[in-house]
Amino acid sequence: MKPDLKVKIGRLELKNPVMVASGTFGSGEEYKDLLDLNKIGAIVTKSITLKARKGNPPPRIVETPSGMLNSIGLQNDGVEAFIKEKIPFLKTIRSAVIVSIAAHSVNDYVKLAERLDDIKRVDALEINISCPNVKGGLEFSREPVSAFEVVNAVRRKTKKTVIAKLSPNVTDIATIAAAAEDAGADAVSLVNTFTGMAVDIDTKRPVLGNIVGGLSGPAIKPIALRMVWEVFKKVRIPVIGMGGIMDSDDALEFIIAGASAVEIGTANFVNPKAAVEVIDGIERYMRQGRIKNMKELIGCLKV
Ligand code: FUM
Repeated sequence: MKPDLKVKIGRLELKNPVMVASGTFGSGEEYKDLLDLNKIGAIVTKSITLKARKGNPPPRIVETPSGMLNSIGLQNDGVEAFIKEKIPFLKTIRSAVIVSIAAHSVNDYVKLAERLDDIKRVDALEINISCPNVKGGLEFSREPVSAFEVVNAVRRKTKKTVIAKLSPNVTDIATIAAAAEDAGADAVSLVNTFTGMAVDIDTKRPVLGNIVGGLSGPAIKPIALRMVWEVFKKVRIPVIGMGGIMDSDDALEFIIAGASAVEIGTANFVNPKAAVEVIDGIERYMRQGRIKNMKELIGCLKV
């Protein structure tokens, strides 16, 4: 029997629990010749802001042992260009579309949510309250009070599924997740990147133009997994896990630890077909283990 991979995130039903993470997949179109986009559970688009942003000075990416540091700085063309130029392509695919939004103020998050509320092709909003790469600070998820404030303000303005994307650069991520839940989030996604830096020993200068950046990739997986488990124990809303997932075994670890769905990020740069391979691997594992549906698997960790 074919296992049922469907999962529900708020009111949104995904055909499978595998998403591609914001900032690693453009707005989907960039990958259209590399894999079957229709197989992916959901595409999370690169974070958009109200107005266009040029992003940080280069270099913006540096490879690290088992990982990658990035300091893109939210380069994007702004919400109006996104609606005009990206939505038409997204209308041609059958996967769920989750739009990541970022802003410097609660008011701007609200304006973005209002603007996107009428766009039918947008199935959900992922509120990026954890970008470590912008001066002035966009990490509203560093404190429960500011996380609550942003999520609650957006919640009041949109009927769409709301996902709060959390920073790992905190003392107790479960407390922040609980604040997002109290504020009305339908789900939390975690983790965004860990702040880090690299130094060029010849020039004695930082490698990244922004000096610091966010670390992702396999190097962070065990920490991300631990955080997903802690949050799963604390909240009742679905947890979307990410952080160094490279293959289906990694994804299954997150799901067993409590993730209702996973996001594939850095792996897309190494293997553009990673998301589809993860879906196939999860299905194979379920078939072999006679696991009928995702409910049997999510959070089944034996402790
Ligand atoms: O564009 C950026 O620097 C986004 C980073 C993030 O949200 O992790």
